[in-house]
Amino acid sequence: MIRLEDVGYVYPGGVEALRGVSLTIGERSSLAIMGRSGAGKTTLIKHLNGLLKPTSGRVTVDGVDTRKATVAKLSRKVGIVFQNPDHQLFAETVEDEVAFPLKNFGFPQDEIKARTEWVLELFNLTRYRKHSPLTLSGGEKKRVAMASIVSWKPKYLVLDEPTLGQDRENKLRLRELFEEFMEEGRTIIMVTHDVEFAAECGFDVALLVDGKVSALGSAREILSNVELLKKASLAAPQMAELFLELEGVEAQPVFTVEEAERLILSRLMSGSGRP
Ligand SMILES: Nc1ncnc2c1ncn2[C@@H]1O[C@H](COP(=O)(O)OP(=O)(O)O)[C@@H](O)[C@H]1O
Ligand SMILES: [Mg+2]
Repeated sequence: MIRLEDVGYVYPGGVEALRGVSLTIGERSSLAIMGRSGAGKTTLIKHLNGLLKPTSGRVTVDGVDTRKATVAKLSRKVGIVFQNPDHQLFAETVEDEVAFPLKNFGFPQDEIKARTEWVLELFNLTRYRKHSPLTLSGGEKKRVAMASIVSWKPKYLVLDEPTLGQDRENKLRLRELFEEFMEEGRTIIMVTHDVEFAAECGFDVALLVDGKVSALGSAREILSNVELLKKASLAAPQMAELFLELEGVEAQPVFTVEEAERLILSRLMSGSGRP
C-alpha cells in the first residue's frame, strides 16, 4: 500500500502546495483525486514515486520511505503518466517510445515484443508505430504516454487526466484496462476533472481543496454531494443533474448513462407511466 502521513510540501519559491495530506491507498484499490486547478493534485502524485519528497510528514510505498529509495527503483512499482505528454515523449518512433522502458527494466526480447504489440493495439496506435510521436495529435500523444507506462504493468498505475482528448471508445478501453489491472491485484490512481468517467469507473474519490483532502468516499457518496462538489469547483455528473432537475432531491440517484437506461427501462416495463 501507499501511505501519505500528514504530508506537507512547499515549493522552493514558497508556495505551500500540500498542507497535511493523510491518505492510505491500498492494494487492488482505485482512487480518483479531484479538485480545482491549483489544488495540489499534480504535486500530490509526484510524491507517489519520490519525484518530490515531502517537506514535512512521510510517504511510504509498500513500507519503503520515498526519501530512502531512488525514483528509478520506485518507478518500477509506481508508474506515473503525467498530464502533458510533451514532457514525457522523446523517442523517434511510437514503437521505440513504448519499448524503451521495457528495455530499461531488462525485460527479455520476446517479452518486449509481445508487450509492445499489446499496448499499441490497446491504445489504438498500431497504425502509428513507425511515426514520430511529435507528429501526433494531443490525444494520440497522451495514448503513447499511457502505453509506454502501462506496458511494464506497474503495481500502482497513476494517471494525470487520462481522458483528456479521448473519445468514447478509448475511454471504454481505459475502463476495461483498469478492471483487468485490478483483477491482477494492481491499484489505479487517477487525477481527473471528468466526473462522468470517475462515476462510470466507480472509483473512490478524494477531493482536494487548497492542498488538503476535504472529503474521501465512494464516487456515489462524493459525486452526489452538491455542497462538497461546489467547494471543489466540480459539477455533478450530467445524469445526476438531469434527474435532480426532473425529479427533485427525492429522486433515485442516477450517475451514469447505463444506470439511467436501466431505470427508464424498468419503469417502462412496470408501466409506471413515468419515462
Ligand atoms: N514547479 C512549481 N514551482 C512553484 N510552484 C508550483 C510548481 N508547481 C505547482 N506549483 C504551485 O503549487 C500549487 C499546486 O499546483 P498543482 O499541484 O500543479 O495543482 P493541480 O494539479 O491541482 O492543478 C499551485 O499554487 C501551483 O501554482
Ligand atoms: Mg495538475
